[in-house]
Amino acid sequence: MEYVVPEVTLHDGVTLPVIGLGTYRLKGAQGVEAIRGAIDERGYRLIDSAYNYENEGTVGEAIRQSSVPREEILVTSKLPGRYQEYEKAQTALQESLFRANLDYYDLYLIHWPNPKQDHYVEAWQALLDAKKQGLIRSIGVCNFLPEHLERLERETGIKPSINQIELHPFFNQAEQRAWHESNQIKTQSWSPLARANQLFQNKTLQQLADNYHKSVSQIVLRWHYQLGAISIPKSASPERQVENISIFDFSLDEADMKAISELTRPDGRLKNQDPAIYEEF
Ligand SMILES: NC(=O)c1ccc[n+]([C@@H]2O[C@H](COP(=O)([O-])OP(=O)(O)OC[C@H]3O[C@@H](n4cnc5c(N)ncnc54)[C@H](OP(=O)(O)O)[C@@H]3O)[C@@H](O)[C@H]2O)c1
Repeated sequence: MEYVVPEVTLHDGVTLPVIGLGTYRLKGAQGVEAIRGAIDERGYRLIDSAYNYENEGTVGEAIRQSSVPREEILVTSKLPGRYQEYEKAQTALQESLFRANLDYYDLYLIHWPNPKQDHYVEAWQALLDAKKQGLIRSIGVCNFLPEHLERLERETGIKPSINQIELHPFFNQAEQRAWHESNQIKTQSWSPLARANQLFQNKTLQQLADNYHKSVSQIVLRWHYQLGAISIPKSASPERQVENISIFDFSLDEADMKAISELTRPDGRLKNQDPAIYEEF
């Protein structure tokens, strides 16, 4: 069965499907099979990984085992906080490619800004140079606040194509999304299903699922899509992978979009990871 997923074009001309596969904790032979099956049998073409997930090898192997040509698959990885100084960033990216046994990443993101360390601009410069060398097609960031995004553009003249941020019904990021939109930066949602924590017990979402004859997960992923965000739900299960990518045959009306957005709370972050303070290495 074919799952046709709409695409979006980033400001640098790279085109991505609006749903990808998250891979946090997908590792080893089981991870390879989950990712290969997602590509070959369930229509996923965007695969999100990171140096720190220690699964770039798993992702690379799944791509090699898949029958879909490499150039039709979009692969993301991320630069860890401990390697943000210019030369360390260059070496880490090379190591990321060696681990995956790939010649290039489609998308490479700075994983966290770690503003107290004050190295994210050098990391950005290293990624800009790696892009010129053909090692990355599109470069972006994760968890950057507007002040960090503004500084990248001010100091290097180039802004990220994407900002991958925590985004789910309990933390809808309305202001940050609006800022991205007015600056031609695409929003990508991490933990789009709030890591299955409370989301599936929520009465409003369950009621909407009943009304639309869809699952809670499909309602929430459709909400991301209608917000204009690219989501990367992680699932190890073939059935749930199919469910998560099958959201293009219905639409939520405005009142229901609003009802979902209203589930947000100021303290709705899953682990209180405020990028102004939180650091990850
Ligand atoms: N940039 C960053 O800082 C950052 C941070 C966190 C995550 N990420 C990325 O974002 C991806 C997604 O976020 P996440 O993994 O934290 O959480 P998530 O995708 O919101 O949720 C994953 C959880 O939901 C379950 N699930 C998935 N589909 C389901 C369905 N249809 N019905 C019921 N349960 C379902 C999964 O279990 P099963 O596997 O058993 O289905 C898993 O426990 C990650 O894998 C990673 O690639 C990035």
